[in-house]
Amino acid sequence: MRHLMSPLDLSVEELDQLLDLANDIEKNPEKYAHACQGKKLATCFYEPSTRTRLSFEAAMLNLGGSVLGFHSADSSSAAKGESVSDTIRVISCYADICAMRHPKEGAALVASEKSTIPVINAGDGGHQHPTQTLTDLLTIRSLKGRLDNITIGLCGDLKFGRTVHSLINALIRYHNVKFVLISPEELKIPDYIRDDVLKANGVEFQEVERLEDAMEQLDVLYMTRVQRERFFNEEDYVRLKDFYVLTKAKMELAKEDMLVLHPLPRVNEIAVEVDDDPRAAYFKQAQYGVYVRMALILTLLGIQV
Ligand code: NCD
Repeated sequence: MRHLMSPLDLSVEELDQLLDLANDIEKNPEKYAHACQGKKLATCFYEPSTRTRLSFEAAMLNLGGSVLGFHSADSSSAAKGESVSDTIRVISCYADICAMRHPKEGAALVASEKSTIPVINAGDGGHQHPTQTLTDLLTIRSLKGRLDNITIGLCGDLKFGRTVHSLINALIRYHNVKFVLISPEELKIPDYIRDDVLKANGVEFQEVERLEDAMEQLDVLYMTRVQRERFFNEEDYVRLKDFYVLTKAKMELAKEDMLVLHPLPRVNEIAVEVDDDPRAAYFKQAQYGVYVRMALILTLLGIQV
C-alpha cells in the first residue's frame, strides 16, 4: 500500500507516468468513467478548502466512485478531542482511500502510520502540498511542453506557502530548472529549503525582492497569496498582504509565452485585469487538478484501465 506525503514519494519515472495518465484522462474521459465503481474516497479536511477538496471529490465521481467526509475540524470528532490516528483507523473501515488536510505539519504522515488505506496529504500546515504540485507539473508540462530547461519565478509568501515548498522539491529533479525566489525579506524561503534542497543539490537560484527585476527572464511565474492563517499577528499580515500585485503593466515586461500560475485562492496579488491575458493559466490549472487527482486515485488504488 502506498501513501502520498510529498512529491518525492514518486520517482521521476512514476511521476511522468502519472502525468501521461492524466493527459489520457483529459483526452478520453469516458474510458475512465466506471474505473472506480464501488470504491469510496474519504475527504478529511481540518482546514478550509475549495479546489483541493472539491477537485478530489469531482475526480472520484468522474471515475464512477463515491465520496464521503468532513470539511472542517468543527464538524468532526476532532472537536471532541479525537486524535488524527484514531480518526484514520475508523475512516479506514469506511473508505478505500483518504485525502487529508490539516493545519499541523506532519498530520497526514501520522495518519498514514495507522491507516490501512492509502492516505494522500492534501496540505499539512506550512509544510507540503503534493497534489497541488502534481497539478502544477501537469499544467506546466501540458502548456509548455516540458519540465526541463525552465526558469521559474516563485513570488509572494515563500515562507509559509506549502505549494512552493513542494514544487521546489519536485522541480529540482528535472534538468536545468532555475529558480528566482521573489519575496519580501520577512517571507523568504525557509532555510530547510534554501540550504537542504537548493544549495545541497547545486541548483541555480536567485533571491530578489522586486517582481519587476525578475520578470523578463521567466518562463513561468508562480504567484502565491500571503498565508494569513499562519501569521502570528494581524499587523504583520496587513503590512505584507499587498506587497505584490501583478498588473497588466507588469505583464508587459514578461516574455510573450511566459505562463502565470497561481494555486488559488487569489486575494489581491493578481489584478483581475490580468485574467484575459492569454498567458494567465491559473483557471486552466484548476481544471488540470481534477485530471491529475483522477490519475493519482487510480495509481494509489492500483487500478489499471
Ligand atoms: C493552496 C493551499 O491550500 O496551500 N490552495 C490550494 O490548495 N489550491 C494555496 C493557498 O491556500 O494559498
